[in-house]
Amino acid sequence: MSPPRVRRPDLGGPFPEHIAVIMDGNGRWAEGRGLRRVLGHREGIRSVREITTSCAEMGVKSLTLYAFSVENWKRPRAEVRYLMRLLRTFLIGERDTLMENDVRLSAIGRLDSLPDDALVELRRTEELTRDNPGMRLRLALSYGARTELADAARKLSKDVLAGKLDPDAIDDETLRSYLYDPETADPDLLIRTAGEMRLSNFLLWQASYAELYVAQVCWPEFRKPELMEALASYARRQRKYGGLVLDRPPTKPIPPVSSERP
Ligand code: FPP
Repeated sequence: MSPPRVRRPDLGGPFPEHIAVIMDGNGRWAEGRGLRRVLGHREGIRSVREITTSCAEMGVKSLTLYAFSVENWKRPRAEVRYLMRLLRTFLIGERDTLMENDVRLSAIGRLDSLPDDALVELRRTEELTRDNPGMRLRLALSYGARTELADAARKLSKDVLAGKLDPDAIDDETLRSYLYDPETADPDLLIRTAGEMRLSNFLLWQASYAELYVAQVCWPEFRKPELMEALASYARRQRKYGGLVLDRPPTKPIPPVSSERP
């Protein structure tokens, strides 16, 4: 089969290489329809499929989806069990689509906490898709940014104690090399659905300079048109990384705040 054709849209500005998504609002989507919360997760899979395929077709290099946080283990047992079953079904059921779209699947997080049957299917899908040259789809599973940083600190300290690392030589890049997946570039665009304005312990180190986009719709309603809106918003941004954009037209100064009423 010939490889899929990548067609990058021209939105009049920069296009993100790496998109990260906090898929929020599955429960609210279901409850709003008088359905059980877990049915929101099931519907969320359709969005996962559509967003993954759309991103792959548009030439996004990496897509990271926050599918299950370390905190999510505290949810009711039945919901956790449902999510783990859904993960396993997804990993088996999406293999053909991942192969057709040249997508390489991987995962970040405390993966050894996953149930064995889900972990086995994760490893099989990773193995099957390992040489796919297209987009990398990373699932954040049993993931927490603070846990990732603690895990990194532990490994780094061991290397210092073993004399493999000079503490005075530690810089940003050294720390990055101890994170779960140092090869994948930082996200350029971080999307969160369901209107919440929080990072919720997601990629705290890597998202330092990500552009944030909050969609009002719940994750099961976030489909290609909503993705295109997020991309259009990103195309209008000017990223400064703490520096200055020198060729920008001057903006009006912000007037001082007066405490006197007019
Ligand atoms: C947040 O919705 C979403 C999650 C905790 C899990 C996201 C999972 C999926 C979209 C399905 C599984 C994904 C894969 C890739 C297998 P919420 O339940 O917190 O919603 P609420 O805030 O409205 O309650």
